Amino acid sequence: MMKAIDENTITDAVLEQASSTPDARLKQVMASLVRHLHAFSREVDLTPVEWLAGIRFLTEIGQKCTPFRQEFILLSDTLGLSSLVNALHDRRATESCTKSSLLGPFYRQDAPVMTLGESIVNKSSAPQICVYGKVVDSAGKGIPNALVQVWEPDETGHYDLQRHDPSEMDLRGCFRTNPDGRYYFRAVCPLGYMIPMDGPVGDMIRAQRRHGYRPAHIHFLIGAPGYREVVTALYISGDDHIESDTVFGVTESLIARVKRNDFASPLPTLPSLHYDFQLAAESRESLSGRVGADPSQITKKAG
Ligand code: BEZ
Ligand code: FE
Repeated sequence: MMKAIDENTITDAVLEQASSTPDARLKQVMASLVRHLHAFSREVDLTPVEWLAGIRFLTEIGQKCTPFRQEFILLSDTLGLSSLVNALHDRRATESCTKSSLLGPFYRQDAPVMTLGESIVNKSSAPQICVYGKVVDSAGKGIPNALVQVWEPDETGHYDLQRHDPSEMDLRGCFRTNPDGRYYFRAVCPLGYMIPMDGPVGDMIRAQRRHGYRPAHIHFLIGAPGYREVVTALYISGDDHIESDTVFGVTESLIARVKRNDFASPLPTLPSLHYDFQLAAESRESLSGRVGADPSQITKKAG
């Protein structure tokens, strides 16, 4: 006999229809999604007008995406989902390692390959700093030839992707650690910035009376064969928004201080930012730590 569909039986009806999904993980994820989505709708007693506002919001999020702009990642970031996925990923590491932080919407693959000590800065004439340290394993031993990808906003808080010609790369580079696992490069001291607010995520942030700022930081994506890739960032000590990051990326162990007169620095005449990154050995779980991607890899240009 046909079962009555009401606000309680609908959940089981959906789960029942999806019960033959052959991919066990897809089945588990979709069933949980449906249960939570339905529970949320019952909890807030979702109205048709609110449902349509949600559909409209998600439609606008998708429409805002281009090869240079990823509004869905921004939504995930501002809802704390990206940081939650990072925390779950960190928990699965089998050895001690540097904590993950957001990849964010401004990562680009194919940044220029540079030699140690080079500057990632093309346009800005702001004073430079030396960013240096080691990439080490869980026992503290240097990892040679690790690939260190870095990107940062300039001293006004803007990334190259936000400039008039976003196809020009600036403030990014890829370095290889030396035989001792050391890296160093020149950069500008970045300024904190407001996340892109000219889209539906900005509307949400304003409606929630949030400030929209990220504290100053430099992004890193570090990998080496046999090790678990780490996506992280260093947060510059003293920033006003270090305890209220709009996207929840800051954790105590990722805060670093800009120092003057650092005689241990490979470029001691510049102010320095020193940090050693620790990679865990590769394990059976997924190797990538990337919660995000170069926006051009998610949204292909039409035509
Ligand atoms: C970033 O740090 O690049 C970023 C992360 C999340 C949202 C916006 C920007
Ligand atoms: Fe950033």
